[in-house]
Amino acid sequence: MKVLVIGKGGREHSLVWRLHQSQTVQKIFCASGNPGIDQIAQAVPIAPTDVAALVEFAKSNAVDLTVVGPEDPLAAGIVDRFTHAGLKIFGPTAAAAQLETSKSFAKTIMREAGVPTAGFAAFDDAESARRYVKARTGPMVVKADGLALGKGVVICHDAKAALDAIDDAMERRRFGAAGNRVIVEEFLSGEEVSFFALCDGENAIPLGTFQDHKAVFDDDRGPNTGGMGAYSPVPQFGPELEARVMREVVAPTLAAMNARGNPFRGLLFVGLMIDGERINVLEFNVRFGDPECEALMMRLDSDLAQNLLAAADGKVANAAIRLSPRSSVAIVLASGGYPGDYKKGIAISGLDRLEGNLPSDIKIKWAMRRIRVKVFHAGTAMRDGQLVTDGGRVLTVTAMAPELATAVDAAYQAAEMIEFEGRHFRRDIARRALVHATSGGAGSV
Ligand code: AMP
Ligand code: GLY
Repeated sequence: MKVLVIGKGGREHSLVWRLHQSQTVQKIFCASGNPGIDQIAQAVPIAPTDVAALVEFAKSNAVDLTVVGPEDPLAAGIVDRFTHAGLKIFGPTAAAAQLETSKSFAKTIMREAGVPTAGFAAFDDAESARRYVKARTGPMVVKADGLALGKGVVICHDAKAALDAIDDAMERRRFGAAGNRVIVEEFLSGEEVSFFALCDGENAIPLGTFQDHKAVFDDDRGPNTGGMGAYSPVPQFGPELEARVMREVVAPTLAAMNARGNPFRGLLFVGLMIDGERINVLEFNVRFGDPECEALMMRLDSDLAQNLLAAADGKVANAAIRLSPRSSVAIVLASGGYPGDYKKGIAISGLDRLEGNLPSDIKIKWAMRRIRVKVFHAGTAMRDGQLVTDGGRVLTVTAMAPELATAVDAAYQAAEMIEFEGRHFRRDIARRALVHATSGGAGSV
């Protein structure tokens, strides 16, 4: 089959890489690609949100399946338009994508479905929000309702901070229309874990557990980013917990969406807060996370194209999905200054060593320990034959091994081989899991 992937980051490179290994895929297009993707897929110079042009492209090139990476085209209704044109596409409709694009919609569904989540109230005017907040004590969380590039959530230690956050969103309009509505939520403590489920509208199959590292610096310091690293599986999260999330979160959410006439097809990304026996949903996303997807694609042992097609066709129960029990880790190499301002066009070196010119001592060590390393391009470009930086998150260095600690060592060894001026990355990806392992697995989860 011919597959079109929408997007141009590390997530999409990992999807294209996996699709390329699929026996049933003859041709891959990617709109709009990057230098890593372009080695194995045909670049299509159409923006991911130019839905009309993408429909035309898919029709005239007889594309059998389209896979959407980012949330923007989903919010813009790409799935509705493709489906209307008789084209097969993996992802939710715009109505179903509201699980991510509107936090108050997601909370309402959770409430309807009896899914455990923090108590909340939603406000369309600043005065009511202020009145609500003033009557409360202790920490609370203020969230802009719409998509705000991951910056619309403010943890407030007291009512005064919450009043500031409300003013920021609703009066100063820092997030534009995304802050027209604000929700105020009860503060939850615990450990954050993400959970993926492949959904076909009726049924779902679990697709791994992950821990993201959102803050830019080690020990979760500094401003939040799109994600600086992730690993999978999360050892603190056992099979019982997975069964609970499927039963208490995924199944009732799918049922509630169905009851509204908006069945959810695609990847449901559940952000959870776990505190002892208590699980609560923090958020839903309606697409693969980035860099979680890179870690997942390393572990996927089955045919990705067939798995996604099964979900798009409403036949997830028949999909043969296999995840390797091995551990994978993804480390993001970012531009100096990211998530603030950063320069582009800086030369990247060292990647060729990893891709074919590995020193023989490292090659032997990695082979003996059953280590696989793969670097995915995120924000890169080619200028006059030279690979250069072209975004905040530049490359995702990913490794898989039988033991998490081995994978982490290899990923850092590989990360050190790649250089560009200003390059920075977190040095503590997966540390929490490694500490958990050395403490004998004791822990609340
Ligand atoms: P969200 O986009 O809703 O997942 O929020 C972004 C981040 O804010 C989460 O990953 C959590 O770290 C934090 N957060 C969100 N909601 C809460 C909450 N109710 N209590 C504590 N932390 C939260
Ligand atoms: N890494 C988190 C996300 O993709 O939303």
